Amino acid sequence: MPSTQTREITAAARLQNVRYAIRDLACYADEVAKQGHKILPLNIGDPINFDFQTPPHLIEAVYKAMRDGKNGDAPSPGIEEALDAIRGEAARKGISSAQDVFVTSGVSETVDLCLTALLNPGDDLLIPSPDYPLYSAVLAKMGLKLNTYDLNEDDGWQPELSDIKKKITPRTRGIVLINPNNPTGSVCTRPMLEAIAELARQHNLVIFADEIYDKLILDGDTCISIAAVAPDVPVVTFGGLSKNYLAPGWRIGWGILSGEASAVTQYNDGIQKLLRARLCANHPEQYAIKAALEGPQDHLIDVRKKLRNRRDLTVRWAKSTPRVSCVSPRGAFYAFPRIDIPEGDEVFVRELILQKHVMVVHGSGFGQKPGTKHFRSVFLPDEQTLTRAYAAIGELLQERYR
Ligand SMILES: Cc1ncc(COP(=O)(O)O)c(C=O)c1O
Repeated sequence: MPSTQTREITAAARLQNVRYAIRDLACYADEVAKQGHKILPLNIGDPINFDFQTPPHLIEAVYKAMRDGKNGDAPSPGIEEALDAIRGEAARKGISSAQDVFVTSGVSETVDLCLTALLNPGDDLLIPSPDYPLYSAVLAKMGLKLNTYDLNEDDGWQPELSDIKKKITPRTRGIVLINPNNPTGSVCTRPMLEAIAELARQHNLVIFADEIYDKLILDGDTCISIAAVAPDVPVVTFGGLSKNYLAPGWRIGWGILSGEASAVTQYNDGIQKLLRARLCANHPEQYAIKAALEGPQDHLIDVRKKLRNRRDLTVRWAKSTPRVSCVSPRGAFYAFPRIDIPEGDEVFVRELILQKHVMVVHGSGFGQKPGTKHFRSVFLPDEQTLTRAYAAIGELLQERYR
């Protein structure tokens, strides 16, 4: 008879470094909810939780696809009409050297797949600090060390070029640029993009340009794609339906691989291999890509207007609140206010949930310069909710650190 003694199955040691602070705070929220309190959620960047709706013509396209029987597996790189629409989008973004495009289950999968296709054990990849935590999680999953470069708060959270130069090692294979940025809301200037592209050229780096928020620019300018600025440099530009098109639950993202054909062919073969290994992205939802990229864009006017008002409210609050300062976000729907407090921002955020029932994410969950403290606020909620939440944050700062 086999022994019935149970032995604990341990998770891979690599996972010790996988953190996702945005969702890791949920246990405190559960505690508060069990006590019957309603949480004000300024922590998760899902527009559908608030007064934003997926454009109806996208829903119609997916519904039609399902009714038309598009419910089996799709081709691994994506359905042809979606790939065509993404090529068109690449052209509109000024990317003249696109070599290939492919559809994934959200940008989350694009990131996982493109990093996995590039990096060998011992390689490193430059990621911003603060960063969107998926990048460090994927690198940890692959057993790779983190190599972070600073975003400079004193320069509107632009990447700190001198730090990037310092951090490039003989094993550095690429650099991640999140533009517009999560968690800071900053948008890269053209000279900055040119300077980063030049470093990539000199050191033979692949640029991962996460532009998932590229249509959510709040101040009238447009998002410049680094792939457009540097057509000769290998770049994978990430985009998707989750943010610009308000459909995060559909899990649709894509990658645009650009650069000189001779330089990126082998890398593309690696990407295609991984695309085949995971069969395909969600099939009926891919029919929304053409509808999104080539159909009416009217919803964006309303989305940007709401976000602009909510951003302004956030910045006004930060300016008028003792111990708080904030670089005004120029894109996406995140602000990253700095807080001058004598304890860790993780403690502050935990107490904010438990005492005031407001959820934000601590700056240390994204990485930040030692000694500085921040929190990330998602300004998707309506003005009334934001006003209540910010008043509660102000109160806790006053009560705890008067
Ligand atoms: C910068 C950034 N990249 C990627 C993602 C993931 O996007 P998706 O929903 O397409 O997986 C997010 C989601 O919040 C994000 O903020």
